[in-house]
Amino acid sequence: MKVEISQERATRLLSSGNVILATSAYKDRSNIITLAWKTPLSHKPPLVGISIAKSHFSCELVEKSEEFVINIPDVNLLEKVVFCGKVSGRDTDKFKETELTPIKAHRLINAPLISECMGNLECYLRDIREFGDHKLFVGEIIYAQAEENLFDQAWDVDKIRLIYHLGGIFFTSSDKMIKVK
Ligand SMILES: Cc1cc2nc3c(=O)[nH]c(=O)nc-3n(C[C@H](O)[C@H](O)[C@H](O)COP(=O)(O)O)c2cc1C
Repeated sequence: MKVEISQERATRLLSSGNVILATSAYKDRSNIITLAWKTPLSHKPPLVGISIAKSHFSCELVEKSEEFVINIPDVNLLEKVVFCGKVSGRDTDKFKETELTPIKAHRLINAPLISECMGNLECYLRDIREFGDHKLFVGEIIYAQAEENLFDQAWDVDKIRLIYHLGGIFFTSSDKMIKVK
């Protein structure tokens, strides 16, 4: 038997892939936001979309700076991921509070990378679309890097546990590699 899921909860039936930390910077402010809603959009050019609520500080920073960085945390960073997803950067320096280390991007981008994350994707903003209370920011990946022992053709999930958000206070993590011939 299936039960009805409220419209408000219906998006929880979809897994949005692994949770990321998106960093942004504008003038003298930089910030970290936790995001579950992100998606690859195109191979050529390599485009990715991140969906940010209009009320969030990061929405303003990404729109003004026209760039963002996607950082890939593993499960060891879960506490910091939850913190960056609860507190607004408007009145808190999340780098300071979490003790995550900002490092300079490889390309001409002001948004910092997070050193403790296992991968980083530097993106130039290419498009913005409004959907209800969120804005979808489309970024072109201009540089990407990952820990060499954890990523070959894909994340080696026998070695790294990526974080997945199931909604609300519920999370899970990647477990073991399944190869299909
Ligand atoms: C696991 C998790 C996933 C989240 N995913 C999103 C998301 O995809 N889009 C969004 O706008 N907010 C998302 N949030 C909420 C923001 O991260 C949160 O409101 C944050 O404090 C906003 O920060 P800012 O105001 O500094 O930008 C998520 C929070 C958590 C804990």
